[in-house]
Amino acid sequence: MSSETSLRLPNALRMGLLVTGLVGLLMGVLAWLQVERERTSDLDELDRRAYILVHQMAYSIQAILKLPDKEAAAALGSTLEGYRPLIGLAVYRPDGRLIAESPDLVGFSSELKQTVLQAILEPKDVVKTLETPTTQIHIVTSVIRTAEGQPEGVLAVVHDLADVMERARNRRQQFVLWGGIIILLLLTAVVAGAWLLYDRPLNRMAEWMRQLRTGEIDEPLPVDPPVARLATERDRLAATLLAKQTATQKQAQQKAQQTHPIWSRTRWRAHLNDCLRGSHLLLVSHREPYLHELQNGQPHLVTPAGGLVAALDPIMRASNGVWIAHGAGNADRRTVDAKDRLMVPPDDPSYVLRRVWLSREEEHGYYHGFANEGLWPLCHRAYERPVFRAHNWEYYVRINRRFAEAVLQEAGSDPAVVLVHDYQLALVPRLIKEARPDLRVGLFWYIPWPDAETFRICPWRNELLSGILGADLIGFHLQQYCNHFMETVDRLIDARLDWHHFSIESSGHLARVRPFPIGVENKMDQPIPTGVILAQRLADLRDRHSLENLRIAVGIDRIDYIKGLPERFNAVARLLERYPQYRGRFTLVQLGMPSRMHIRRYRDHLNELESLADTINWRFQTASWQPIRFLVGQHDPVTVYTFMRMAEVSIVSSLHDGMNLVAKEFVAARSDLDGVLVLSEFTGAARELEDALIVNPYDTEQFAEAIYLALDMPADERRERMIRMRRRLEENNTYRWAADFLTELTAKPVTDEES
Ligand code: F6P
Repeated sequence: MSSETSLRLPNALRMGLLVTGLVGLLMGVLAWLQVERERTSDLDELDRRAYILVHQMAYSIQAILKLPDKEAAAALGSTLEGYRPLIGLAVYRPDGRLIAESPDLVGFSSELKQTVLQAILEPKDVVKTLETPTTQIHIVTSVIRTAEGQPEGVLAVVHDLADVMERARNRRQQFVLWGGIIILLLLTAVVAGAWLLYDRPLNRMAEWMRQLRTGEIDEPLPVDPPVARLATERDRLAATLLAKQTATQKQAQQKAQQTHPIWSRTRWRAHLNDCLRGSHLLLVSHREPYLHELQNGQPHLVTPAGGLVAALDPIMRASNGVWIAHGAGNADRRTVDAKDRLMVPPDDPSYVLRRVWLSREEEHGYYHGFANEGLWPLCHRAYERPVFRAHNWEYYVRINRRFAEAVLQEAGSDPAVVLVHDYQLALVPRLIKEARPDLRVGLFWYIPWPDAETFRICPWRNELLSGILGADLIGFHLQQYCNHFMETVDRLIDARLDWHHFSIESSGHLARVRPFPIGVENKMDQPIPTGVILAQRLADLRDRHSLENLRIAVGIDRIDYIKGLPERFNAVARLLERYPQYRGRFTLVQLGMPSRMHIRRYRDHLNELESLADTINWRFQTASWQPIRFLVGQHDPVTVYTFMRMAEVSIVSSLHDGMNLVAKEFVAARSDLDGVLVLSEFTGAARELEDALIVNPYDTEQFAEAIYLALDMPADERRERMIRMRRRLEENNTYRWAADFLTELTAKPVTDEES
């Protein structure tokens, strides 16, 4: 406390001294001017009096001057005597001879004589202020003239200036006294004010930040006026810092506790049982992990594209739980039992898939309409305008209810932990909690969360937030999305935010907000081709797509405008312009999985891509070579894996992507420790995969250069980078992600006292 005071005072004092110094200077100048003005006006008054005297006496003196000296002196007699401040008068002949003077003037004769001679010589009236050894005097000498204007004599009027000077001195003293008092008061007021309004809050903030840094924080900082404007930034900073510290501490603790840092399926299974303590595990998402499509009249199993399925299926395989999802395949109804359930995967039945049915209109309104034409562009910064229609919102509410009912049905009356996935089901957490407050409900949001201003444009923003806040735990990939979410809630709805613990209390319910960067499985579930089988598959694929002897880059994406595919194609074209040596020797193989094709924007996008690929190919192609092979369709996991192994470079160029698991899957696939990843800086994955070549997909020059660098990278560097990326992924795999989420979801919330 004392050290704070010693820090604070000098600042406030400095400000006080500066302000009072300036004010004091100004007051001093004004006081000096005032004293001078009054002294001048006193002197003017003496001039005036002297002249009045001269005029009053001039007529009689004129007559007296006609007399000889002696009579004149006698005639003047007592008329020359003065009264304070008049010292006296003296009369002289035009040749400077004194005729008579008042007796009090005797001591000033020499000063007087000089002034009189000056008046005679000029000849004109002379007014002077003179310093004598005893006092200061004021002399007016007036030349008395005949009717013809000839000088007849000189009348000198002498005043004592002692009173005038005394008055000026007194005024000066008064100014100094009052000025001093005012300056002291001002100094006190400024110092106190500066300390209260500036130094104190700043020092408290500095101390608070120090505590934040060292982790000793025990109370929120009160919002003082001058730092109030920093409140949001401060909270954000604190939140980020706290989250980082917590994550680091957690990591350190986990590392210390674990002799083996890698999470495996077996370990996850054991952990899951510990966390569930007899509860069911229910997972609900829009997208199902396996769908059945009719092929030649028979149901055929298809694995849908997308990060969600890739991340969750391995987890569910080890869980013995139930996955509730939309039955989207045209043969889905044929493969379920009377309760709309089936065991999956068919070749290794490990968990239950419960399908939820939607009519075509419902799917269109809820999934295509509200989720993918509204929320998807709202959350992704790809400059696609979101569209919100009231009837789509009604479908969204209705279908969220249906999913919630399916969850409640599956839970029965037993305890359960429910994992709700993604933006299609934002209302499900609250719907479940309203019916079964005892269930633990977590929501994981796979896509970015926009800033508060962006989210505000959604007409049903409050309903969505309220739905999400029904969850006990809300997960995002990045801390940044957590911050955005907290700020959105802060701005838009009435809730109590605790930035310290990253939690939100609304309608009497507490929801925690945390980052959980999703990972991939280290090994694929499908038998991976290796050795000669892999070599054979690689040769087959090259042969099928005329890729022999070519250097290959691969892109694997759902057809979506957020994936930055036009930017990628243009970067390839630029590469071939700048480095013509790659013409005929390099090809980008782009696997494009069509999705959401009932949305016009997606159909248009596919058409744009095909036409752009055609234009670029037409420009550079030869009879036997094309720079872009755009392979549109659903590609099975083994084909995808083989292309990943074929490629020297994998390109991920999303304009904005919550995580992007393809980037991680490429690294996981490269057990040969070769291959270079070119990765957009706007993906969540870029935060972890620092050894990728990070690009801004909007910067075509930089992007093309990165592909060139990737193709040109020495083998040693490729290997080192790949080793580092793989190590990171191995530790942060999908099991660890699920374990962290479940641990947090089933843990008791930390209270203020405990933290
Ligand atoms: O990761 C976001 C996400 O929408 C997932 O929810 C989904 O599984 C994936 O992308 C693919 O999208 P869709 O299921 O709409 O084809």
